[in-house]
Amino acid sequence: MLSDHFGRSVEYLRLSITDRCDLRCSYCLPKGFKNFEEPAHWLSLDEMARVAAAFARMGAKHIRLTGGEPLLRRGLSELAARLARLPGVSDLSLSTNATQLDRHADALFRAGVNRLNVSLDSLRSDCVAQLTGSNCLPRVRAGLAAARAAGFENIKINMVPLQGVNDGDIEAMAEFCIAHGFILRLIEAMPMGHIGQRAAGMDLRPVLERLRQRFDLHPLSLNLGGGPARYWRSRDNRFTLGLITPISQHFCASCNRVRLAVDGTLYLCLGQEQRFELRPLLRAGCSDAELEAAIREAIELKPEKHEFAQAPVKMMRFMSQTGG
Ligand code: 5AD
Ligand code: SF4
Repeated sequence: MLSDHFGRSVEYLRLSITDRCDLRCSYCLPKGFKNFEEPAHWLSLDEMARVAAAFARMGAKHIRLTGGEPLLRRGLSELAARLARLPGVSDLSLSTNATQLDRHADALFRAGVNRLNVSLDSLRSDCVAQLTGSNCLPRVRAGLAAARAAGFENIKINMVPLQGVNDGDIEAMAEFCIAHGFILRLIEAMPMGHIGQRAAGMDLRPVLERLRQRFDLHPLSLNLGGGPARYWRSRDNRFTLGLITPISQHFCASCNRVRLAVDGTLYLCLGQEQRFELRPLLRAGCSDAELEAAIREAIELKPEKHEFAQAPVKMMRFMSQTGG
């Protein structure tokens, strides 16, 4: 269906619904950051749905709603309901910081969102406040509880371990995930923008060794969610751990995704500049065939790999801009 210059099939579309966020995680956005995309440049949710439908016709199976913080944009659950109905799309997921999830969990579940990824880096409120610039831990916990009550079964907690900040919190986070039936995913901080470049990201390989022994983990061969995470499970089946290691062990050879930013830019790689502007085309009233042709042309631009490890100061976009 959609396949790139290197023979990888692209079946995963990530939609950044907004680049705005109510938090300022230290590895993602600078404190006081205000330089967000102009609303006049935002794709409407109709335009986003149209791009998603074109991807679905070309074989996309997974769609993720992300941001910024997607729950900040009105109409998200209505968009989700439209995307969930697209033929061929078997998986619709949402990445959120959960600060407003308690109000939205029911509607999102009913709309057909089947998986949630919630960002949470510590269970200590002072650490969360320091990392995100907001006293948001109680709200996030309420959001998680509401998601469970709404019926979400597949909930992953995304944690970015940072040396000297929350690296001592990993075991407590694992216990929390065991107690609530969440999957814990540890993500190596990527050098996105000057703020990501300053983040004290950690090589997760020694962390894995530590957790392996403590929780008696064995590797899983199945891929939970079509992404780059590799998974481990405890012998007693109570704990599932995922690791995303873009720096220490990159997974570009199996990359299956592209990202649509809120302004209609299709980014072909998190760590490279290749992009294709879809907004002018959409605003000029292109036909579906023209849109599909443009997407095919864009996919041809997908680079072979990022260079986060070799050239860590290269990528000046923030994560929230590309769609985390
Ligand atoms: N490196 C790795 N992960 C990041 N995220 C945001 N910025 C970075 C970065 N520089 C992650 C957050 C969130 C997801 C949307 O993106 O942890 O879970
Ligand atoms: Fe917001 Fe997510 Fe970035 Fe944190 S990581 S500032 S929650 S977009």
